[in-house]
Amino acid sequence: MTRLAALLGLELPLLQAGMGAVAGPGLCAEVSRAGAGGTLALYKEPPARAARLVREVAAATGGRPFGVNVVPEVTGPDRCLEQLRAVLPELPRNGFVTAFGLPADDAAHAVRAAGRPLVVQVGTSADADTALARGAAVLVLQGTEAGGHLLGEQPAASLLATVRARHPHAVLAVAGGIATGGDLADAVARGADGATAGTLFVPATESAAHPEFKRRVVEAVAEDTLVTSLFEIGWPHRPHRVLRNSLTTATERAPAAFIATARVDGRPYPVPRYSAAAPGAATTGRIEEMAMYCGRSCTRVTTTHPAAATVARIRQEYEDALVLRAGSHTSTPPAPHRIQET
Ligand SMILES: Cc1cc2nc3c(=O)[nH]c(=O)nc-3n(C[C@H](O)[C@H](O)[C@H](O)COP(=O)(O)O)c2cc1C
Repeated sequence: MTRLAALLGLELPLLQAGMGAVAGPGLCAEVSRAGAGGTLALYKEPPARAARLVREVAAATGGRPFGVNVVPEVTGPDRCLEQLRAVLPELPRNGFVTAFGLPADDAAHAVRAAGRPLVVQVGTSADADTALARGAAVLVLQGTEAGGHLLGEQPAASLLATVRARHPHAVLAVAGGIATGGDLADAVARGADGATAGTLFVPATESAAHPEFKRRVVEAVAEDTLVTSLFEIGWPHRPHRVLRNSLTTATERAPAAFIATARVDGRPYPVPRYSAAAPGAATTGRIEEMAMYCGRSCTRVTTTHPAAATVARIRQEYEDALVLRAGSHTSTPPAPHRIQET
């Protein structure tokens, strides 16, 4: 048991990342039912639909804790607050809220006032300080190995070392590079209380990602990913790690055009070339040209499985790794970040 698991009521100190177009109610509920921290991506969801999705997850988790994820820099502070005001009354008492980047003061206050733990993902030591000052109960320290948009410029291990030294008692998870229970055990051994994984869950049976996106993640190795700023329409000024495709390897920018159609509740939305939108299951068109966010951990993501099987595997590998470590360090006292009940 780590402090992350104890704080959020999880059996395994692992959060599934909120991921736009990927982490819908199906994935979130399955991960939570399996004992990890399922998280519903709210991304650009209108508040009323977001509330409906939260009700759907709450009805499917059998009382297990789950989270909702907001992306304040995409929605803007007003819309983010609207989303939170719509979903917080629907979020069970053991639910939590995760934010990609710093939430505004009033958003952080709304989460705290509702009595839900606020989990904030950051990529720099300065943002870690600010997030804690705004009342974050958990920091997710994102390294540059991570898939998706990048909040900083350091690998997860070095960011963890810096933030752990500054905040010895903070509850810290790492994001980026986590695809096995061994990866999770390594992070805990380095001073983390747990981890967040995104890429690991993209190919899950219950993930809402397009089948082509799932296939490419399963087949990819770390070198098939790169950090670019190309897919900036709808989410500018934020580099992101994606799978290489015909747009990232082209020497010239392709002409502006609509290349695909996404569907939300059956309604079509045109997707421009270089859009930040990832391909969901119902998206049609030039899928290959779309942003397929993927972390370097994809090398160790090699199959499509139900999410519960993935969580069960991670749990077994994690427990095995802990037993191995305990065996090889019998005289080492427990690390200070591990929970010590009083
Ligand atoms: C497909 C994809 C979509 C993502 N979308 C979001 C998002 O909507 N909100 C968020 O907080 N993080 C998002 N992330 C980033 C994750 O929170 C996390 O930093 C990342 O997945 C960790 O690295 P990993 O993918 O190697 O596990 C996304 C990541 C991926 C791979």
